[in-house]
Amino acid sequence: MKHLIDLKKLPLTDISQIVRLAEVFKKGRKVPFFLPETKSVVNLFLEASTRTRFSFELAQKRLGMQVMSFSASSSSMEKGESFYDTVKNLEAMGVDSLVVRTSDNEALNTISEKVNLSIVNAGSGTRHHPTQALLDLMTIKTHFSGVEGLHVAIVGDISHSRVAHSHLDLLPKLGVNVSLCSFQDLGDDYSAYNHTKIDEIIEKVDVLMMLRVQNERHHDGITITNEQYHEIYGLTEARYRKLKSSAIVMHPGPYIRDKEIASSLIEADKVKIFEQVNNGTFVRMAVMDYVLGGKLSESLLTT
Ligand code: CP
Repeated sequence: MKHLIDLKKLPLTDISQIVRLAEVFKKGRKVPFFLPETKSVVNLFLEASTRTRFSFELAQKRLGMQVMSFSASSSSMEKGESFYDTVKNLEAMGVDSLVVRTSDNEALNTISEKVNLSIVNAGSGTRHHPTQALLDLMTIKTHFSGVEGLHVAIVGDISHSRVAHSHLDLLPKLGVNVSLCSFQDLGDDYSAYNHTKIDEIIEKVDVLMMLRVQNERHHDGITITNEQYHEIYGLTEARYRKLKSSAIVMHPGPYIRDKEIASSLIEADKVKIFEQVNNGTFVRMAVMDYVLGGKLSESLLTT
């Protein structure tokens, strides 16, 4: 049974296959057949989502899948049924795959070893968001001839960001140089990385990756105001003007205007937020094919 839980163990050949298939879909290649036996999927989102949830649903429908959405508040989880028992019951019904968003960092690793359906991680806690990192990779690839040797700066609430952690699992193994401009002290766990400030790096980076402050995961509260954050860590118009002409800016969303990025820059030339969202559907089509046997990849990447 194939899963996509995190990017740490995903071989580079599989990463390349997923991104190449997404690029084929983006070029307009139609799905030549529905997934064999019309596979079913339940989208089980236990945390809020707009981009990931709807792009998975759109991707699955484009693949001709039987798509069901799960609402925790109207399910038997409301009566106390555990996440594990919920998954076991969906498995018993014959569901082929689950796309899951959860606040738990490691639940999917544990559960994936005990079930006979494919699990795709749509964001887990502060630790993993593999499909976001893959769609970001696709976006970066579009703007540069290769990713090896590029300089990516990740800016903001790194310790609470599953997007940042998935990139730390992915980018170094592709030969990308990563700098961290963290909003908070990161401690020893991140000693392997280059730490700097946005103003020291802004003129040098190829990719500036801005992150949202994850207020919901700061249990001690945040004292800095949005205006102060923007001045110290945000992409202001003055900083934007210092970027290299070839540089791009990304943000996984949801973005808070005039906090991480000046409102006037959201649709600026170098800012690729909506391109990232657009790529998300194609990457998630490729990911569904990948976990369900790779038939489309076999068919479309060889012809
Ligand atoms: N980037 C991202 O995960 O957005 P959503 O929370 O809206 O899915």
